[in-house]
Amino acid sequence: MTTVALKDVTKVFPDSTVAVDNVSLDVRAGEFMVLLGPSGCGKSTVLRMIAGLEDPTSGAILLNGETANDISPRDRGVAMVFQDFALYPHMTVGDNIGFPLRLSGVEPGTRSEQVAQVASALGIGDVLERKPSQLSGGQRQRVALGRAIVRRPGLFLMDEPLSNLDSGLRAELRAEISGLVRELGVTCVYVTHDQAEALTMADRVAIMRRGVLQDVGTPTQVYGRPATLYVAAFLGSPRMNLLEAEVYVNLDRHVSLHLGDQTLYLPWNDVRARHVAHFHGERIVVGVRAEALVPVVSSTDGDVIQGRVRYLEHHGHESLAFLDIGATAVVVDEMAGRARSGSGLQHGLRRLVNRVTGRGGDEFHSGGGGVATATDSHGGDPGDSRVFSDGGRHHRRPAELAVRLAPYPALGHGTPLSVRVRMDALHFFDDRGRRIDVGWR
Ligand SMILES: Nc1ncnc2c1ncn2[C@@H]1O[C@H](COP(=O)(O)OP(=O)(O)O)[C@@H](O)[C@H]1O
Ligand SMILES: [Mg+2]
Repeated sequence: MTTVALKDVTKVFPDSTVAVDNVSLDVRAGEFMVLLGPSGCGKSTVLRMIAGLEDPTSGAILLNGETANDISPRDRGVAMVFQDFALYPHMTVGDNIGFPLRLSGVEPGTRSEQVAQVASALGIGDVLERKPSQLSGGQRQRVALGRAIVRRPGLFLMDEPLSNLDSGLRAELRAEISGLVRELGVTCVYVTHDQAEALTMADRVAIMRRGVLQDVGTPTQVYGRPATLYVAAFLGSPRMNLLEAEVYVNLDRHVSLHLGDQTLYLPWNDVRARHVAHFHGERIVVGVRAEALVPVVSSTDGDVIQGRVRYLEHHGHESLAFLDIGATAVVVDEMAGRARSGSGLQHGLRRLVNRVTGRGGDEFHSGGGGVATATDSHGGDPGDSRVFSDGGRHHRRPAELAVRLAPYPALGHGTPLSVRVRMDALHFFDDRGRRIDVGWR
């Protein structure tokens, strides 16, 4: 079991791409740490630096508390599994798994014993004599895992090992890998862009954006109390509803949150009210997940939002309703076009239909921001970008409030629907995208 520590690690490539920007992270012995983030955010670079395949430009990497910067990759006791796992096509499964043992001079008897052990743990004990071409994708990936495990490393580094597999197999192997790694008690740093993988497999998740670490915590922590607007927008399906709100304080009574024409009242005895009250007269972002919205007949208690069904999405086990509520949604740039649970295509198509039919007003931008503009190439510190006052990272559009419903509800386009908001489940973010909360974490 190995501990890993990154101390202020930065990686700048010769073409001056800042791939990793001042990242510090501790991975405990035996921990399953998942690095999560969109493509290009620097995950693989972090992993490759831990493995010793890249040198940090500055900062230190510690293995078991000792600086590893000068330890060669092969002496780090790590095993790496990649997305494009390369097996030797001319070798049998058994020889593929046993290859690292052969390299280090383990004699054949011991070797085949250890290979058999690992193969049976992975459920591929009966295909040891086959060649890789005679295996399914899932079996091939198990062989790749077997080859990594057989050396009994102190640390596993896995870079999107399941990305090339179909979704059923992915879910199956997800459980298998995390089970196996825990059984072996080996520390693991696992890279993925898939939030479902991260939330189901991790002891802790580290979320990256443009080289910058945004948040680290257990799945419950990062999902339940995301540190930044970006993390809030990234985790969860459907995506968290993020609404622009104007704050108005009625001292000793409540803090009003104006969402377009509608108002929610955060009671003064809610401890977070004092913190939100600092934003009197300003705009903040109010986040609310679909599961914190419950349809109600009617009410005027200050915790209800009224809307009309704009469209429905049926998922079999549940249906999602998206409501027009006359409020404005904040969209984080990277998430643009694939907001909510649906595909970006769906949203794009609807926009197109609106344009063709002349129905305007579906899309509007703040400042110079836009769906496709990645203006600032780098420097994703949550503190350097404004939600309401600059272009680039965020844009705004009419909110479509996502609400979870029982399957196939008797609703149609335009049906009025009111939802009660679980006020204790609201999230608040300031203009810099930072969480507004009381002494959290
Ligand atoms: N050898 C390299 N030279 C220059 N830029 C690189 C190199 N490797 C990666 N990058 C860039 O660094 C950034 C992070 O890449 P990477 O770590 O592979 O991201 P991820 O694994 O999260 O998709 C990207 O912008 C990528 O284009
Ligand atoms: Mg990568």
